[in-house]
Amino acid sequence: MKAQLLSCVVVAVAVLFAVDIQARDPFPISCNLNVLIVFDRSDSVKGAFNRSRDFVLGMSEELNIAPDAHRVAMIVYSGATLRKEVYPWNFAKSNEEFSRTTLKLRAVGGTTDTKGALEEALKLMETRNKTVATLIMVVTDGRSGTRTDVPAKALLANEDTWVFAAATGDPRFADRDELEKIAGDINRVIMQSGRDLAIDITRNILRQAQIKCRKTTTTTTTTTTTTTTTTTTTNPITDCEMDLVLVLDFSTTTEPIYLRYIAMAQKLVGKLKIGSHYTRVALVLFSSVGKTYTAFNLNHYYNAEDVNKAISASEYTGGTTATGEGIRQATEQVNERTGGRPGLAKQVMVVFTDGWSNRGPEPEPMAKAARAAGFELYAVQSEGNPDDEGYLETNSFVLDVVADDMDHVFSDKTFDKLIDRVRQRNLKCL
Ligand SMILES: *[C@@H]1O[C@H](CO)[C@@H](O)[C@H](O)[C@H]1NC(C)=O
Ligand SMILES: *[C@@H]1O[C@H](CO)[C@@H](O)[C@H](O)[C@H]1NC(C)=O
Repeated sequence: MKAQLLSCVVVAVAVLFAVDIQARDPFPISCNLNVLIVFDRSDSVKGAFNRSRDFVLGMSEELNIAPDAHRVAMIVYSGATLRKEVYPWNFAKSNEEFSRTTLKLRAVGGTTDTKGALEEALKLMETRNKTVATLIMVVTDGRSGTRTDVPAKALLANEDTWVFAAATGDPRFADRDELEKIAGDINRVIMQSGRDLAIDITRNILRQAQIKCRKTTTTTTTTTTTTTTTTTTTNPITDCEMDLVLVLDFSTTTEPIYLRYIAMAQKLVGKLKIGSHYTRVALVLFSSVGKTYTAFNLNHYYNAEDVNKAISASEYTGGTTATGEGIRQATEQVNERTGGRPGLAKQVMVVFTDGWSNRGPEPEPMAKAARAAGFELYAVQSEGNPDDEGYLETNSFVLDVVADDMDHVFSDKTFDKLIDRVRQRNLKCL
């Protein structure tokens, strides 16, 4: 009874927290949204098409493409005399399908008939699911050969619709006035200044759009220039987001214990809900400072099988034990560029080590920095068998300073308890 009451309180607190962090969330995973991509495939400048395509692919990573989540449609265009390819709503039923289709596209022609493309977009808008909000993203290298005023205005007049214009080419050549007319607001014009930056800007914009799309389920006030932000009862987040960084000691002192670490890490992964919108996993292997490396980032594999394959494939390096350096590199996974979702995901770091750190930065301040970055830290040791060759008594002092507290220190004998703890975040999605 007491436990139930406690879990109710925990849930209540979690809900409050979720509301509080919504403004900073990545794009929602279950928010219903129509996403129409109007994609300029002309290659007026060498490489322009590839930039636009990479932009579209990068942007799609922020979406959850599915018939009951983000329904996508796409218009691919170039010059006025060339046929526009129209991909109707739900043409791709998953992110993978969308990527496959987009990767097959090739550059065509040199001119840019954005007007004609927007007219096609108007037709597509008629067939959208009008009960959900729509995000239109016009991706062009930024110089249209046709006047877009009329269809642009008509598109903006659609209810519950937000239009963005992204120029993926050199901003000096982009027609800002035209882009602003298409988007209806300069704040919805994205200018390229390096691909990463454009993608970052788009991510932010998608977050804003998410707030807007969420709002449409309640009464909202929207004007052309300002949008009132209200919180709604729908929660588009799975609430199972977890960024899990596994940090494995691959130094000599732990041989052959590293094989046990691998087995434990894989067992843990097998008990979680792995996926882009659930648990993301990164792997850092440490031994000597110079040999410590990130085997894969949080945004590299989105299913358990691939994660575990990659863990198996990790190379044993040997060397001294640079626990601090391992934790330092693991903390870098907080970065959005490597797939980190601070503020949204529960951040967990599990350090598998025998504890004898003898090289590189001290583990204690590195662990502190990791905590400051939002990570909950667990330490796992393999108790091993005193008769084994190379057996060393573990250094529990190091384990203590690495882990949040004694409750976060586990061994191969108690590892199932750690799994239970870490798994809590994924329970309702399993
Ligand atoms: C564009 O990308 C394709 C492969 O995706 C590549 O073959 C081609 O060389 C690239 N073009 C330019 C101009 O970079
Ligand atoms: C439109 O979207 C809503 C919300 O996802 C859904 O319930 C409804 O079935 C959809 N309508 C059609 C015709 O697909």
